[in-house]
Amino acid sequence: MKKISIISILLIALLSFSSCGKSFRDGAKEKGFNAGIALGAGTFLDPNVAKIIKENSYIVVSENCMKWANLRPNKTFWNWNDVDQLIKFADENGMQVKWHTLFWHRQNSNFISSNWTREEALAAMDEHITTIMTRYKGKIKEYDVVNEMFEEDGTMRKNVWYNTIGPDYIEHALIKAHETDPDAKLYLNEYNNEDKGNRKADAMFNFVKDLKERGIPVDGVGMQLHLDTSYSYVEEKIRRNIKRYAEIGIDISFSEVDIRMPTDNPAAYEEMQKERYLSLYKLAAENPNVKSVITWGWTDKGSWIPGEFPGKGNALMYDADGKEKPVYKAVKKFLCK
Ligand code: G3I
Repeated sequence: MKKISIISILLIALLSFSSCGKSFRDGAKEKGFNAGIALGAGTFLDPNVAKIIKENSYIVVSENCMKWANLRPNKTFWNWNDVDQLIKFADENGMQVKWHTLFWHRQNSNFISSNWTREEALAAMDEHITTIMTRYKGKIKEYDVVNEMFEEDGTMRKNVWYNTIGPDYIEHALIKAHETDPDAKLYLNEYNNEDKGNRKADAMFNFVKDLKERGIPVDGVGMQLHLDTSYSYVEEKIRRNIKRYAEIGIDISFSEVDIRMPTDNPAAYEEMQKERYLSLYKLAAENPNVKSVITWGWTDKGSWIPGEFPGKGNALMYDADGKEKPVYKAVKKFLCK
């Protein structure tokens, strides 16, 4: 009898040490936000990948298949298949799908023309919005309407929509999107916009505040948070930024999180990376207006980083073999508390 109870105590101790009995995504949900992952087209059709996504996500986003060049390579051909597959997978597994992105300066189709008149560009914008948002009404509940609309100095980026329509292209897109699906949450997504006091972050806050004051429909701001261990990280600056958005009724998504480091000596940076990941999940748990924390991919194997930042990587919480890293276990432990 005594032996059995000692074994049970040991078993319980072992279980509570190795796992809290909650999935990563349920731990996040209990802390008040959705955990999520950006996925490459069709990656979730592999059952091993699907298992990991189901464990970790209540919101999924496509890494590429909703962008113009992939979705609509020419004016009349719409490649819906990849998006439809993602929605089916999400529906079957109790996940939301986020649209990324309606308008951006990269990955555009060749037929988008900087020679368009304002009227032609507005018509193209409207057609894009209404075609997508009518098709996915009730199925996609959150949209990155415009991605990366600011320069580092806080001026507006002169993308093709700005150049053809003018600075009001963003409010035009928001108004049309809201008119097409009034229930959809409309986000503006950006990088390097997380620190209060940073020129781009302040410009974006003032811009969104002005939209709100003028009654333009906007629900949220995405902070991509592609971080790098080589740059400074000040939790308090992010906290203060989140809070000023809360004061004007704006939700936040940590929308594309990854934390890269030099790959020649990762051991030197892993502790710092872990602290920063933990800090982000802690900020999300602390602030009710942070609605989601989405990592840009899940395994280092498919990450975009080595392609754009040679010599950098190891940015995600699963290694290239699909194994949980210590950083994943640390974040999960926090979410389990
Ligand atoms: O689809 C073509 C394929 O047909 C072709 O053979 C191949 C050859 O290079 O390219 C394929 O397109 C690639 C595409 O990803 C799909 O895999 C592009 O070259 C490649 O540039 C593109 O990279 C994506 C990048 O956005 C493009 O700007 C990354 O996967 C994607 O992770 C990245 O995501 C962005 C977010 O949307 C916005 N925030 C920054 C983030 C990282 O750059």
